[in-house]
Amino acid sequence: MSGKRKTQGSDNLLTRRLPAWKKLTELRVKQKSQEQQNLPTLNDLFSSDSKRASKFSTRCGELFLDYSKSHLTDEIFSLLCEATQDANLKSAITSLFSGDHINNTEDRAALHTLLRTSNPLCAGQPIDGYQQDIFSCQKKMQHFTNEIHQQNWLGFNGKPITHIVNIGVGGSDLGPRVVCEALSHYKTSTLDVNFISNIDATEFYRVTAPLAPETTLFIIASKTFTTLETMKNANLAKQWILAGGCDKAQLNRHFVAASANIKKATEFGIAEDNIFPLWDWVGGRYSLWSAIGLPIALTIGWDNFKSLLSGAEEMDEHFSTAEPKNNMPVIMALLTLWYSQLWGATNQAVMPYSNQLRNLPLLLQQLDMESLGKGVNRNGETLNHPSGIALWGVEGSNGQHSFHQLFHQGTQFVPLDFIAELKPNHDNYAQHQQLLSCCLSQSQALMSGKDYATAQQELVDNGATESTAKQLAKHKVIAGNKPSNTLLMESLSPKNLGALIALYEHKVFTLSVLLDINPFDQWGVELGKQLGSKIDDALTHKKRPENWDSSTKQLAELISNALK
Ligand code: F6P
Repeated sequence: MSGKRKTQGSDNLLTRRLPAWKKLTELRVKQKSQEQQNLPTLNDLFSSDSKRASKFSTRCGELFLDYSKSHLTDEIFSLLCEATQDANLKSAITSLFSGDHINNTEDRAALHTLLRTSNPLCAGQPIDGYQQDIFSCQKKMQHFTNEIHQQNWLGFNGKPITHIVNIGVGGSDLGPRVVCEALSHYKTSTLDVNFISNIDATEFYRVTAPLAPETTLFIIASKTFTTLETMKNANLAKQWILAGGCDKAQLNRHFVAASANIKKATEFGIAEDNIFPLWDWVGGRYSLWSAIGLPIALTIGWDNFKSLLSGAEEMDEHFSTAEPKNNMPVIMALLTLWYSQLWGATNQAVMPYSNQLRNLPLLLQQLDMESLGKGVNRNGETLNHPSGIALWGVEGSNGQHSFHQLFHQGTQFVPLDFIAELKPNHDNYAQHQQLLSCCLSQSQALMSGKDYATAQQELVDNGATESTAKQLAKHKVIAGNKPSNTLLMESLSPKNLGALIALYEHKVFTLSVLLDINPFDQWGVELGKQLGSKIDDALTHKKRPENWDSSTKQLAELISNALK
């Protein structure tokens, strides 16, 4: 197939595999033909069913999901749930939890759920060996955290470590960075935890400027210990510590690593005792629950880190046992599938009405887009329907005064997730109520909109003439009928945050099963990495390979001239 992907029709891979999807496609075609005339709007659906809100809501622990402002009817919802049976979701979940090699292109398990289980049996199956490895790594992390907190870990001149810098990128940065920020109100010590991810050395210089080498410890977080950005920054860190007066023999007081590549980490100069292991069955974007989470434990303390794991475990339990119709991650996945395949959504927005969660979309972006941004199915067949869609967002109260305009009146269809905590982490309840009111007002406005007659009347009431009102009202119409989910959590606790992140992990997994793609590889990012080092090599040796296009040659020339 060339050019555009087909989204409908009998040759569509999705409708071919999932009989329920064929019915949903037919139903949507029928809906579209009614859309102009008499298809009930979201408002109509609420008016005709007083129980709609409770019917389309579900709870898991302290997380409550209201998905009633969605384009669902009983018939559509039950067909969506039927699609999970067609796709054998249940057995896919069992495979995930039992350590089957479901990452088929790398012949690996994806056992991040095991990192947070308190049950020695996972999905009823003993997972040989792994549990012992996890347990000893956790003990080592706990011991290290306590040593740092109790100021027993001393730098090269005998002063305690007071500053931590995590050097990592992608999954080795985003998880810990976002969680540490989100749970800063759970900080248990005065320890200052920082992050460096960018190969732009500006970040290194900015973060280290206020720090003293003698009291700073670097965590080199890299599953592979080969990632260019991380290695470059790790080398800068080494020079910085040495330049600060540390001799080589004392470097182990200032460097620890979280990595699956013990050989490379030791070659870099990290003492073996200072390496916190992870394993090939932990995907980078699913790794915050492993030793990659060390900055989290250092920020919020060991007990709170365990609470984070326990919240994720609670979501694991829910995901693996709840029926599709009550299963939060499954429902969210089904809605995204419905909108991406049959409503033309190419974007989804996640809007946390929470300053602490302001960077959550960054974490979810890697999770969702690196997992689902694939062009072939598990067998390598080219997909002829959409796969992953773009995910983005910022904290809601700021977005409202920026790009929400496009949600309300633009021509793009963007389903939204609103996320908020019921109880704030401060005692200014009045202002928190205002924040939550802003959140509710957005989902209500998106759904209800404003019709032409109302807009016109408002203008007349405000003194406009009939003819001005008629003309201006066209610009003030808000179509409405836009869907959103609202996710409320009791409070932003480690446990609830763990559950929230696991919720999105399982949403992504469910989508991958429905779409029949492998969410655990990321071959697409490799090409850029390969070309990046080739270009760097060519620039260093002043080469301009014949096969370079003229644009790359021209840009390379400008770079070489600037960096002479
Ligand atoms: O380039 C993408 C990626 O492979 C991510 O999947 C991963 O989280 C990140 O790079 C970092 O990899 P590593 O932990 O091996 O340095």
